[in-house]
Amino acid sequence: MDLYEAIKGRRSVRKFKSTPVPKDLIEKIFEVALWAPSGMNRQNWKFFVLAGERKEELVSISSTSFQYLEPQLQQLYAEKPKIIESTRRFFKRLGEAPIVVCAYFEPANMEDVTSFQNVAAAIQNLLLVAHAEGLGTCWMTGPVTVANEISRFLGVKDMTLVAITPMGYPDETPKVPPRKPERVVYQGFE
Ligand SMILES: Cc1cc2nc3c(=O)[nH]c(=O)nc-3n(C[C@H](O)[C@H](O)[C@H](O)COP(=O)(O)O)c2cc1C
Repeated sequence: MDLYEAIKGRRSVRKFKSTPVPKDLIEKIFEVALWAPSGMNRQNWKFFVLAGERKEELVSISSTSFQYLEPQLQQLYAEKPKIIESTRRFFKRLGEAPIVVCAYFEPANMEDVTSFQNVAAAIQNLLLVAHAEGLGTCWMTGPVTVANEISRFLGVKDMTLVAITPMGYPDETPKVPPRKPERVVYQGFE
């Protein structure tokens, strides 16, 4: 798949088929995704990839984060209760994805602002390569509100959870959200 096509065609997927994702495909995707840039080339990202029973337990812990998101959603979508309900459903089971990925950074003697961006660059690569391989993902920071519980479950110490994403073969075709205009300011051009 062409890079332009991958960037424009990737969507957040919130409903997945139960078809298992082969581990060697996930390894192939990560091999490419981790060619992201990073501040001082620290490459201080760390990804946990969960399947099977471990994934089920993670989903159950992650689902408890919805309670922290709900008040915000109630404000934002007071007139659209269906959005709140579909988000609640999605958080409960993460769209039945067979795989869930948790993205962390390790301390690397640098400002957190750089570490967050290192991981974000690798996550975006991951999402794009997964899409090129026919897989869906959904970058999620909602579950970070229960980062302590997730880290305890994974046995992680002294690392920062940046985001999680479900991963699997899509079972929906999400709408294409239009781009906002005037997001780039050009100066000094003739
Ligand atoms: C940093 C970040 C955090 C996000 N957190 C969530 C989340 O917690 N739950 C969710 O359903 N989607 C989440 N999303 C997905 C966005 O809602 C989605 O990217 C946006 O609506 C645009 O849709 P698209 O990804 O299909 O282009 C997040 C995306 C980003 C980049």
